[in-house]
Amino acid sequence: MKERLRATALLLMCFVMIGAAGGQEIRVTVEAGSAGKPISGKLFGIFFEDLNYAADGGLYAEMVQNRSFEYSSRDVPGWHAFTGWEVVQRDGGTARYYIGDVRPLHPNNPQYLELHCETARQGSSAGISNSGFGGMVVKAGENYVFSVFARQQPQTNFSLEVRLESRDGTVLGRAEIAALTQDWKQYKATLEADRDDSDAQLVVLARGSRGVVYLDMVSLFPHKTFRGRPNGLRRDLGETLAALKPKFVRFPGGCLAHGDGLNNIYHWKDTIGPVEQRKAQKNIWRYHQTMGLGYFEYFQFCMDIGAEPVPVVAAGVSCQNSDRYWGVGQQAIPLDEMDGYVQDVLDLIEWANGPADSRWGAKRAAAGRAEPFGLKYLAAGNEDAQTPAFRERFKIIYEAVKAQHPEITVIGNVGPAPDGEDYEAGWAFARELGLGLVAEHYYRSPEWFLNNLGRYDGYDRRKGKVFVSEYAAHDTGRRTTLRAALAEAAFMTGLERNGDVVEMACYAPLLGKIGNTQWNPNLIYFTNERVIPTISYYVQRMFGEHSGDVYLPVAVSGSGGDGSFAVSCVRDSKTGTLFLKLVNPGQTPTPIRIDLSEAEGIATRGVKTVLSGEPMAVNDIDHPQRVVPETSVISVGPNFAYEAPSHSLTVIRIDSQRP
Ligand code: AHR
Repeated sequence: MKERLRATALLLMCFVMIGAAGGQEIRVTVEAGSAGKPISGKLFGIFFEDLNYAADGGLYAEMVQNRSFEYSSRDVPGWHAFTGWEVVQRDGGTARYYIGDVRPLHPNNPQYLELHCETARQGSSAGISNSGFGGMVVKAGENYVFSVFARQQPQTNFSLEVRLESRDGTVLGRAEIAALTQDWKQYKATLEADRDDSDAQLVVLARGSRGVVYLDMVSLFPHKTFRGRPNGLRRDLGETLAALKPKFVRFPGGCLAHGDGLNNIYHWKDTIGPVEQRKAQKNIWRYHQTMGLGYFEYFQFCMDIGAEPVPVVAAGVSCQNSDRYWGVGQQAIPLDEMDGYVQDVLDLIEWANGPADSRWGAKRAAAGRAEPFGLKYLAAGNEDAQTPAFRERFKIIYEAVKAQHPEITVIGNVGPAPDGEDYEAGWAFARELGLGLVAEHYYRSPEWFLNNLGRYDGYDRRKGKVFVSEYAAHDTGRRTTLRAALAEAAFMTGLERNGDVVEMACYAPLLGKIGNTQWNPNLIYFTNERVIPTISYYVQRMFGEHSGDVYLPVAVSGSGGDGSFAVSCVRDSKTGTLFLKLVNPGQTPTPIRIDLSEAEGIATRGVKTVLSGEPMAVNDIDHPQRVVPETSVISVGPNFAYEAPSHSLTVIRIDSQRP
């Protein structure tokens, strides 16, 4: 008991508000000789949502916008099947353009383009062009993989010419596709760009006789995708995410997963299989989802980066905020349809984990993955309003999964806020059901984070564990300032300290395409050719790169500093390496004496990584590197001094020298 009180006192001392006497030394004593407290080995991950053009036009490397002519005014008022496309008529060629739906490629992909060519003159051509999501970026010497489904009217003799062109019509690369057939068939060609262009377009021209050419799934991918996957992800963005070393990926979204009314719930089955057979739908964030980045690609990405997949399925209800845009509010799947819905959820588990000869496992294997994905977590719902309708449906899903797949942890949720009615009701419900893992969300000011560093110190360890599945410090103007990032860092030291009850945490949202954001701030901004990580990104990366599975108690004393100084120390039990994190959100550089005298066999040289700057600084398109971490060697030992710069996060890595 005495031991426990002492430990609690030590823990609480880790984030005390230090007095205003700047310049004096803070003493940090790490109980490095103790066994420490086992904490979650998957504390920090990422949350991907198709928001801010994060998927189509973003991480999904497809360069053609509206490749399947499925855009409509349901997505965005004013959009139509030909949005993103332009008519091209060259050398006297003329044509009429129609959207056909009589003989589609697949019922899930009902529309296609009919090109009624009218001029048979030698050398003339008619076709279409597409400049992607705001201009295609091509690089000299790089290959681009073109594909299209096409057919032609009987008794005609068409070929296709495919070009990459600059805005002024300069040809950057070209390929021919000869002799179309009368039935839908996929054609492929590789185009090599002969120069750089960040505003290129794809041009597809029909050459031949008078008659009709039918086109669908007009697609262009860079040959170099992330890990070289076909139908893959943008390499630069994929690498930026992988560098976070996330232990899990939550996907495909929050609001997007439970959807904009019942008809907009995200159904995983619509997102697997050949891309031309997937069912596109409007995006709750007011654009269009092709589902080209679907469940297979999400799971594959998780495998590629060594992260646990954490899919989110609707808990039988849609998003309660649906009416904000479309006037519907939370809607519930009728109870007599819940059996079918629950079966879909069970099928997902079979698809992910079943043997390759099971019904759904076979579909995974057909897509290229015979081995099970090893799904362990499944989130049912997203920050749902805790209504009776939600509770009833969540319970049905939870009990069915528990009965058939006790190995899967079903994640519950307690609404959108860190307190209040939904939060209280959600936790009471979670306790009633005995849920093992419960999601909390909070978007709050930096001050709120600094005032809540001890949020989980007093959490009742007998109730379910916590998954902070969405959080971010929002500074004034919803910017990702250094001040906000440091508040997140200080809070994350509290998550590490409480890593016995907080199992997972991820910043939200992840990606924002500049010029196409519906939400700010985001962890990473990007354009078609650039990636601009925010300061918060570097905080996440510093924690992801320096994570452990044992927390070592730390005592903080002394009167230095002028802000809420925060510390944590974790150990990687496999290697014995210690990671000490020091957050000085205040404006005074703070001398620190670090006592590691209990540690045995530590190296004399460590590596320190420091993130610091002006508190209101942001990384933006004009100054993408305003605040970035700097790494250098530091002398360490049983007792050493370090001065934490003002407004800084420092991580010190100290390797073990024990064999
Ligand atoms: O992260 C952006 C949105 O915030 C999520 O979709 C939703 O869950 C939350 O309200």
